[in-house]
Order: sequence, then C-alpha cells, then structure tokens
Amino acid sequence: MTTERQRSTDAALRERARAVIPNGMYGHQNASFLPDNFPQFFARGAGAHLWDVDGNEYIDYLCAYGPILLGYKHPTVDQAAGAVQDAGDCLNGPTDKMVELAELLVEITPWADWAWFAKNGTDATVYAASIARTATGKQTILRARGAYHGSSPTWIAGDREIPADGTIEYDYNDLGSVRAALDAAESDAAAVMVSAFRHDVGIDQELPTVEFARGLRELCDANGLVLILDDVRGGFRLDMAGSWAPLGVDPDLSAYCKAIGNGHPISALMGRDSLTEAVAATMSTGSYWFTAAPMAAAKATIETMLEIDGIAHLKRIGNQLRDGWQQAADAHGVGIRQTGPVQIPLMLFDGDDFTTRNVPRAYRFAAELAERGVYLHPVHNGFLSTALSDEDIAHTLEASDEAFAVVAADFAD
Ligand SMILES: Cc1ncc(COP(=O)(O)O)c(C=O)c1O
Repeated sequence: MTTERQRSTDAALRERARAVIPNGMYGHQNASFLPDNFPQFFARGAGAHLWDVDGNEYIDYLCAYGPILLGYKHPTVDQAAGAVQDAGDCLNGPTDKMVELAELLVEITPWADWAWFAKNGTDATVYAASIARTATGKQTILRARGAYHGSSPTWIAGDREIPADGTIEYDYNDLGSVRAALDAAESDAAAVMVSAFRHDVGIDQELPTVEFARGLRELCDANGLVLILDDVRGGFRLDMAGSWAPLGVDPDLSAYCKAIGNGHPISALMGRDSLTEAVAATMSTGSYWFTAAPMAAAKATIETMLEIDGIAHLKRIGNQLRDGWQQAADAHGVGIRQTGPVQIPLMLFDGDDFTTRNVPRAYRFAAELAERGVYLHPVHNGFLSTALSDEDIAHTLEASDEAFAVVAADFAD
C-alpha cells in the first residue's frame, strides 16, 4: 500500500530556510531528527488528516506535538475563535472571553479557585515556580530527573542534561528520592514540580503510582511546599478535571497548554485561593497574553470535549490502536513496549537504545508508516485526537502490519 511521494517543494523550502533561519529550523520540530522521508513543511490539516507541502496526505498521530485535540480545523472551535477575531482579538485589555474561560475552568476543576492565562506551557510552568518562590520566601524547586518543563533558564541551563540553578532532582515515582532532595535543599525548598506522568523522550513512559502522588501531597503539606502539577502534556487528554483527578490527589497549582485551545495559542495556570496574594505580588505579563480569540477557542474546545465525552472516545480508539499494534508486532515476532496512557501512545522497540541514540527499528517503522500515509513520531510520544475514526485506525493497523513485516525482515537475528 505504499505510494510514490513527491518531496520537491519541501526540499526547496528547506534550502531557502537554511539561508535565513539558523540551521533551517529551530526546536524539536526540526525534521532532521526524523527519518529522511518525513516532511518539514505542511500545507493544511482537516480532522485527523494532515497534508504536507507536496500534497502527501497522512493520518496524524502527533497532533502538532499535542495541541490538536478535536482534530484540525474543528468547525465549532474555529467559528468561536473567528467570531471574536472579527470583532477584535488584540485590544488594550481582555474581552469577556477571559472571564468566561476562567469561570469554566474553575467550574470543571473542583480544587481550583482561579485561572491565569498566557501563551506557552513554559510561561505557565515558569510562573508557577515564581509564585511558589514568592509564597514561601524560599528558592529551591524539587523536580524529577530528566523531566521537561519548558525551554527556560528556570528549568534548563542551556544544555538539557544540566539541571538549572535553584532546582534539585528526584526520581519519578520514588518518594525516598523526593525526601532526599528535600533534605538536600536544606530548608530552602519552595515547591515540588511533577509531571502528570513520566514522559521523558525516548524512554518507557511511567504512570504515577497512587502512593507516589499521595506521598507528594503529604510531603508538601507537612513541609509547607507548593505542589505544582505540570499538566501541559496530559491536560484535557487524560481527564477534564486534571490528570491527577482520577488519583484523588489535588495540586496547589496546575499548568496547562497544548490541548486546551485545539491549536489556538493559549496556556493556563490554575491555583488555590491560598496563593492569590502571591500571584498579586509576582509580576507577569506578555504582549499577546490577553488576545481574545484563543480564549474563545479554549472555551469551545473544553465545552465540545465535555459534550462529546472526548476522553472516552480517545481511550476507546487508543485501546484499539494499542491492542492492534501488539497483535501485529507479536504476529511478526517483533518485540515492542507500549507504555503510558493510551491517549498519548508510545511504542519503543526491543533492541533499540535511545540513550545511545541508536533506534534503527523505530526509525524504520516510522519511515515505512510515512510511506503508507501514517504520521507517527519514531521516539516522541504520539497524541490522539477525537477526530480519529475507526476507519483511520483500521487503515493505520493495516499499514502497521506491513511496517512490522519490514522491521522483522530487516532486523532478523
Ligand atoms: C510537560 C511539559 N511541560 C512544559 C512544556 C513546555 O510547553 P511549551 O513548549 O508550550 O512552552 C512542555 C512542552 O512540550 C511539556 O511537555
């Protein structure tokens, strides 16, 4: 089922980009990290499908690295944003949409009393750390080893392997290591920062244990620390009330971005009344943080997700995909590991090793899928959208069966 794919427009754009943009592309969306047949430039998206600049179509399992939750160009969301855009998006201050969105978020998040908005996940995680520092008068943030919270000096010291000043690392799902990090902070700990689940790139994902989540809550309460949940990646895909709601553990601050506005640029921080004074005392603003259209889009995204029970749909198709991949891999004798929530799928291949960047099976599998019209990142977790249909999944599994056959043949012992 492979089709001959044109790449000439993409190649020409890469060439032009190299002349005027450092390395032709910035960030981890740089296609040079992907198999050779992956496009860098895209032309359009509709529902669960994406077209590159050469007109090649893909069923999409990356969703713009997370933001697309209801599918590309979702009519309800885009109409809500468009209507506001027509009236005026960037004004001297916010519109009523900011209040409406905050009211909706507070309504669906039982523990939270307020919401605050910005543009990127990093804005929200950095501001969360600043609020915790203001509230406690202390500086050190305890955070999990290898966890990504944004590209800011608050979290990374240039080189991703070096933790930033003012942070001490613990190991995810290991309360003992959190206690050790607390001791190492020598009474200067302001907060524990924790991701909704462990999703460091290239390694098996790990869900939090209930004991770990509850233990963090208790440790924060006992020591006067702020518990910050980084829900940028999981938020609105795992649970509409926050990704730790099913665990029964409430944070003090929760950072959202990615899926909240179905591709419209907005992030949010939610928090408790006890931190309201610290918010007032901690400066925050941004040129575009008050634009109204993304707020209307976020409100429409959340309302639509609630209306269609989007989480249930994501879990249903996520399980179909996971079961189908496992069956196909087993049938071809290919060893794989699928970890983390099914809505945010990750498949890694036995025999590959991301720590040495030696992942030929994952690259081969993703390349074979791309040739068959399926876009799946080889090592970064994927993201599902509610636009994925049973037909899309069936096509994907058919393509995957052929791709596993190629991997089995290429990497036979
Ligand atoms: C868990 C987590 N936190 C924070 C961020 C940073 O978000 P942004 O890239 O929108 O600044 C990301 C981005 O991938 C993320 O996955």
